[in-house]
Parts: sequence; C-alpha cells; structure tokens
Amino acid sequence: MTRKRVAVLISGRGSNMSALIDAARDPAYPAEIVGVLSNKAAAPGLAIAANDGIATASLAQSKFPSRDMFEDTMTQIMESWEVDYVCLAGFMRILGEDFVIRWQGRMINIHPSLLPLYKGLHTHERALADGASVHGCTVHFVTPGLDEGPAIVQAKVPVLAGDTPQSLADRVLIEEHRIYPEALKMLAEGRVTF
Ligand code: GAR
Repeated sequence: MTRKRVAVLISGRGSNMSALIDAARDPAYPAEIVGVLSNKAAAPGLAIAANDGIATASLAQSKFPSRDMFEDTMTQIMESWEVDYVCLAGFMRILGEDFVIRWQGRMINIHPSLLPLYKGLHTHERALADGASVHGCTVHFVTPGLDEGPAIVQAKVPVLAGDTPQSLADRVLIEEHRIYPEALKMLAEGRVTF
C-alpha cells in the first residue's frame, strides 16, 4: 500500500491536526501527514508538528500583495511536499475560488456544527441560543461557497442542560478528533469521492 501524502492547514492550537498525526502513526493507516502549513507563525500546532519531525511552513497573507499570490505560494509549498490531499484543521481564512478549484475533491475541512446548520463562526453559541437539543461536527469537501461542500462524515452530540459554549465545544471536539481521521481514511482509500 502506498500511503497518500497529506498536508494539514492550521491557524492555531492544532488539536485536529494532532488527531490526524496520531492516526497516521499506525502503519496500516492509508495516509501520512507530510507537512503542516499555518497562516500564523505563532500557531501552537506548528511546534507540535515540528517536534514530530513533520515539515512545517508559515506564511502571513499580509506579507503578500494579493490573496492569489498568498494562495499560489501555499500551493507551491504543498506541491513541493508532493501532497495528494489537503486537510483544513482550524484554518481560519476564507480561501479564494482559484485555490479551492485547484484542490477541489482533494481538500476537506472540519467544521464544528451539523452542516448545513451554523455555517461560519460562533457555532456553539448559536446552537445554544436556538435551544438546539442536538449539535455536532462535520467533515466535508471544500467548495467555493463557505462551509457548503458535501459532507463526508458527521457526528452528533446532545446539548445538555446547563451547557455553556465552552462545555458544548469540548464535547463536540472529542467527536471532531474521532471523525476527522475516519473521513481522511475513507478519502485515502478511495471509498468516498467528490
Ligand atoms: C475546531 O473546533 C474546528 O472545528 C474549528 O476550529 C477549531 C480548531 O481547533 N474550525 C472552524 O471553526 C472552521 N470554520 P484545533 O486547532 O484544535 O483543531
């Protein structure tokens, strides 16, 4: 089996990135994380990946004359890593259409809601404000519309009496760490296609 080569794009903590790295420690897992790219030099996830001997790069969009040039540079870096798939894991930048089309079918994202509910930010606050009884997370293909691509795996969690945005986020995050490696496995094995 040739393992698929995967880049993970982060902006911060990188706990989903860590879940993917941990899954890929099993030689039977069909993908390996070959590089981690961040738009924030201070993202804690970069140091975690580097500690594991994974190639890392950080580039600030503000240093580029245009978003296209920033995203072209990301593509060049990922091509230098010979990447098959891209996993967005808390990458908090909206991506341009050219970049998304360039990687479409090969780029997936994790989002902390049961899409199509609660696209965008502050998903836990909004679910609580609506009095939702069920919440969750989604791994989906990335398409040009924000958080609109087809879902690959979803997980539900109950909303409990007394939940705060943080307690709900913590419960959802446990499921994120479970379904992201599962979705990447399905993709790498060709069991799901765009
Ligand atoms: C995760 O909860 C992820 O679902 C969310 O950001 C967090 C990143 O945490 N992503 C989004 O909200 C994307 N719109 P992590 O850096 O520990 O993986």
